[in-house]
Amino acid sequence: MQLFPRNEKNFYGRRKGRKVSSTISKLVEDYSYKFYLQEDQICKLKLHENEKNILEIGFGNGENLVNMSLNKPNDLFIGCDAYYNGCTKLVRQILNKNIKNIKIWPDDIHLIIKKFKKNFFDFILIIQPDPWPKKKHKKRRLIQQKFLDDLNQILKFKGELIISTDHKVMKSWVLEQLHVREDFLWIKNGYYYQNKQPEWIINTKYTKKALQNNRVVNWFFFKKN
Ligand SMILES: C[S@@+](CC[C@H](N)C(=O)[O-])C[C@H]1O[C@@H](n2cnc3c(N)ncnc32)[C@H](O)[C@@H]1O
Repeated sequence: MQLFPRNEKNFYGRRKGRKVSSTISKLVEDYSYKFYLQEDQICKLKLHENEKNILEIGFGNGENLVNMSLNKPNDLFIGCDAYYNGCTKLVRQILNKNIKNIKIWPDDIHLIIKKFKKNFFDFILIIQPDPWPKKKHKKRRLIQQKFLDDLNQILKFKGELIISTDHKVMKSWVLEQLHVREDFLWIKNGYYYQNKQPEWIINTKYTKKALQNNRVVNWFFFKKN
């Protein structure tokens, strides 16, 4: 089984943080076959096997995925992040809590986004994407028109794309990228709704950091049209 990293060339974020102990690395290697999605499995995922199918892109340490999966054991949660340390934390949580309904793609989402069946997901979550605030780094931002085309394909009709950010550049970027699209409707439209975090999504590391520093976290909800 191939472990990380697979897409070294075009991935801009951090791959590894602090050194992971050899015990944890071994644990991940030993159990990854159970939780890691293989590319050829993706198109075989069955549409109606679970009540809902939810994708979280850039799960960080995976705390929200763990919480959602425990609350909704009949749903399938697919988490994707190319950050090794976060993936190891998620694998440990899955083992400790004996979670059965999370699958991990431990790499760049672009490598698999086209492999999912069309209309597969009920929800796609992108919580606090990297803002890449400098103009010269615009291309590094995750949310781009082509990426939104792909997300639209794999979302069910009326499925929701939920994005949150505490960064003013990313806030404008999300709106700029989505308001031109007829295949996504901005729901709960308008200023007053932006900050309502759904009760089923918990505060992640980046959300907590933003709130501790008194930054507003904006939540955007787009429905596939
Ligand atoms: C700012 S962090 C937010 C993490 C987490 N959602 C939170 O709120 O704490 C953004 C995360 O997105 C991941 N990421 C960025 N681009 C990605 C990509 N193309 N595919 C998969 N993960 C990606 C990064 O590795 C990082 O963990």
